[in-house]
Amino acid sequence: MKPYTRIIGTGHYLPSNVLTNEDVEKVCDTKSDWIVERTGIEQRHFCEDGEGTSDMAEVAARRALESAGISAEELDLIIVGTSSPDYGSPSVAAILQDRLGCKTICAFDISAACTGFIYSLGVADSMVKAGAAKTALVIGAERISTYIDWEERNTAVLFGDGAGAAIITASDEPGILSTHLHADGSKKDILFLNNGKPVYEPQDRANKVSMVGPDVFKNAVKRFSEVIDQCLTENNVAKEDIDWLVPHQANLRIIQAVQKKLGMNDEQVVVTVNKTANNSAATVPIALDLAIRDGRIKPGQLVISAAFGAGLTWGALLLRV
Ligand code: UT7
Repeated sequence: MKPYTRIIGTGHYLPSNVLTNEDVEKVCDTKSDWIVERTGIEQRHFCEDGEGTSDMAEVAARRALESAGISAEELDLIIVGTSSPDYGSPSVAAILQDRLGCKTICAFDISAACTGFIYSLGVADSMVKAGAAKTALVIGAERISTYIDWEERNTAVLFGDGAGAAIITASDEPGILSTHLHADGSKKDILFLNNGKPVYEPQDRANKVSMVGPDVFKNAVKRFSEVIDQCLTENNVAKEDIDWLVPHQANLRIIQAVQKKLGMNDEQVVVTVNKTANNSAATVPIALDLAIRDGRIKPGQLVISAAFGAGLTWGALLLRV
């Protein structure tokens, strides 16, 4: 059995429908300047009517398979990080197993909000290293536009839809060096769907996303810092050795705080939040794919990624490309 895992292909998809801040001003009590100043966001992509999470995930998956140069029949595991699946069940992963024409392989979703891709990659990495699978399709895909309430301006302006995918496989060479996954459910009330009410209770704001923005911001900066420290320490890697930071894209100010902590310059940080807003579980694989495809991230380089989201959940990933 091969001892390591590597990412051998990536892909992403963003819906063609773009909403600029000026478009948002028409439906929400906000100003474009406020959004840019406080978040760095200039625009976001929203699904068309009838376009769902599995549709976006399928395109991202096909692009990742193409870049890996393998067929869907070679997959033996699919994991999708999503908090906005098309259905309660079946999972997005099961839908993809059928649509991509895979064998009857293991396929399931992981609900870890914005940390969904790093959670999914961590679980896939462990399963491949344990010999339970050889080649896995790992996706982060979200249709957050479904949950936006334009009356809640501090949350509504932040999100967009999209999907990103990676193919990982067993390898003789190290690639995915480690993943670090955490949760703290005691802080579940600062970021949630359904106004914090369980689905079995009467809903006043069914299927709407809400958050206590400043609390989420503070927790995000703290947990990003901790998990990056943990990742560097456990791998015995100095921050100077990191070539690229591929962070979750929630707010440019959070990204800059993490960048400052790592002492990295702007040219070492992949930023998409200005063009994509926060795609929740999809931000990390979208950013990774963009920077690999445009040649910024090169083979052999060391990449650190970290994400933070509802749950609360947070995690980090160290990768030799
Ligand atoms: O993916 C993981 C989850 N998400 C995050 O990590 C996001 C974390 N939080 C944030 O990014 C920021 O907290 C926000 C962007 C959500 C808010 O920024 P802030 O600088 O923390 O603003 P605030 O909530 O403290 O509000 C400041 C002011 C308030 O006005 P007053 O009370 O000072 O008059 C708000 O009413 O900004 C006002 N405000 C807005 N104004 C225009 C809040 N949202 C908006 C808006 N447009 N969309």
